[in-house]
Amino acid sequence: MDTFKELLLKRQSDRKYSSKKVEEEKVLACIEAARLSPSACNSQPWSFVVIDSEPILQQAQRRIATMGMNRFVKQVPCLIAIVLEKANFTASIGCVIKDKEYPLLDIGIAANNMCMQASELGLGSCILGWFDEKGLKKLIDVPDNKRIPLVIALGYPATITRKKIRKPLKDIVHFNSYMRNEKKIEL
Ligand SMILES: Cc1cc2nc3c(=O)[nH]c(=O)nc-3n(C[C@H](O)[C@H](O)[C@H](O)COP(=O)(O)O)c2cc1C
Repeated sequence: MDTFKELLLKRQSDRKYSSKKVEEEKVLACIEAARLSPSACNSQPWSFVVIDSEPILQQAQRRIATMGMNRFVKQVPCLIAIVLEKANFTASIGCVIKDKEYPLLDIGIAANNMCMQASELGLGSCILGWFDEKGLKKLIDVPDNKRIPLVIALGYPATITRKKIRKPLKDIVHFNSYMRNEKKIEL
């Protein structure tokens, strides 16, 4: 079993997949990981549309691989559209008072948990934010007044694990003051 750190290093945006289908129980396990995610005021402003069979899959792939972007999606055997649902009363009020987009933050957390679960199950994934949202909504019968902030690509990866490219910790951590950093980090 992977440690949390190992999973963090294993999870990556996979952009090459084998044609092997993803078993339904694994798809549901990824959605279960999203379901267990935290959300502001436990609002759980999400639902999920699994797209895994033809002809819808190919039509969805075409709506995601647009303007020369996300071409790899044409080989992805499973797509999960995350639908942004109405936040509950307390979260909605909180958004107004604190001027924060809690539901979108919630969706981001849920998306990452899905991808982490996918990694643990030996699946590859990619969070997708670039797609023809209007066209995708129409295709999978999501009402006009709802949004699809993200789609998750899921499949068996056909790539090796890359080294992570990230800003060094010392450039992003501040102790006690953003402007006057009180400690120097060597990592
Ligand atoms: C909100 C969001 C939207 C993203 N949209 C896309 C996308 O449309 N296409 C894509 O190939 N990758 C997309 N990514 C993946 C990022 O490019 C990727 O996470 C980043 O480069 C770090 O690489 P890693 O995920 O392999 O660690 C998205 C990631 C996030 C968090």
